Amino acid sequence: MTTLETDAIAAAKSLPIGYDKRMMVAAGRASGELGQRIAERLGMELTDAGLKTFPDGEVYCRYADSIRGADIFIVQSICGNEREGISANDALMELLIMIEAAVGASAHRVIAVTPWYGYSRQDKKSAPREPITARLVAKMLETAGVDRVVTMDLHAGQVQGFFSKPVDHMTAMPILTQHVKDQLGDEEDLVVIAPDAGRVKLTRNFARKVGTTYALLEKERPAQGVAEIGTVIGDVRGKVAVIVDDIIGTGGTLAAAAQTVIERGASKVFAVATHGLFAGRAFETLAASPLSGIVVTDTVPLRDGAPPLIRQLTSADILTDSVRRIFTDDSVSEIFSGENQLF
Ligand code: R5P
Repeated sequence: MTTLETDAIAAAKSLPIGYDKRMMVAAGRASGELGQRIAERLGMELTDAGLKTFPDGEVYCRYADSIRGADIFIVQSICGNEREGISANDALMELLIMIEAAVGASAHRVIAVTPWYGYSRQDKKSAPREPITARLVAKMLETAGVDRVVTMDLHAGQVQGFFSKPVDHMTAMPILTQHVKDQLGDEEDLVVIAPDAGRVKLTRNFARKVGTTYALLEKERPAQGVAEIGTVIGDVRGKVAVIVDDIIGTGGTLAAAAQTVIERGASKVFAVATHGLFAGRAFETLAASPLSGIVVTDTVPLRDGAPPLIRQLTSADILTDSVRRIFTDDSVSEIFSGENQLF
């Protein structure tokens, strides 16, 4: 046996049996605050990703510390962040670049924590010659080298099928049901409202959790970005209504839904949703609507200038728990006692 071989065997024997895995958390500029909240809950510092944008608009990333052998969790929703001067497309490109840099730096596992999966509404062809952009985004993430994706309240759970890598599909519904129970649980006549037929199952389960009844609105989209509410199925007269949705985009759906339930005799109307994009003139639209209060989570940073009726709750506790369990290879569905499939 050569000296080289003897040294190699000795080195292998000296490998620590209780080898310590290393975890790192970095955040892109669309989700800096959320990343910070997650890192704080883990009792860690955010890893500096050295992000900057060159004068020509290209994005650059260079991690300040070695990430060789670490599980790196990259927190980045695919959304804009006005305060950082980042658009949704910038956020996507930045996420891909952060994954590429982590793969090239020999991370053990690269996990994208992308609670708001931008482009998720483009998950099928609704008209000839349309792209399925949610699938394209999945392909791009996998091509960049992501090992796993953590996301929240996908517009359609089937988006998971666009990935060949594991997707942990979390839900903010426990946060929102608890909030409704705490704030409106004393109301005698509470009704949970589905703003369109696609959300009946979620709304029924939400109503069960809150311990009340539900009703359903029939929504039509005569054109992209235009929402019209037709029939109300169920009883809302004299009741306090809570509309439950996954996304608030332009606010058009919510404003139209709120107007309809008030016209059908509801005494008050509130809304809860996971992802508050508040695009375009959403703040003005919602401030002018009959809504008395709107609650969203921080999967998307709240734009400046939100009217006082909008409140943001954090999703960081659920996401932190997911990150911790992925790192230690523990069950993630246990966070919801298996009930995440209910939503
Ligand atoms: C639609 O299916 C979604 O669940 C939301 O209702 C929709 O994306 C909200 O969009 P907007 O606020 O622009 O009407």
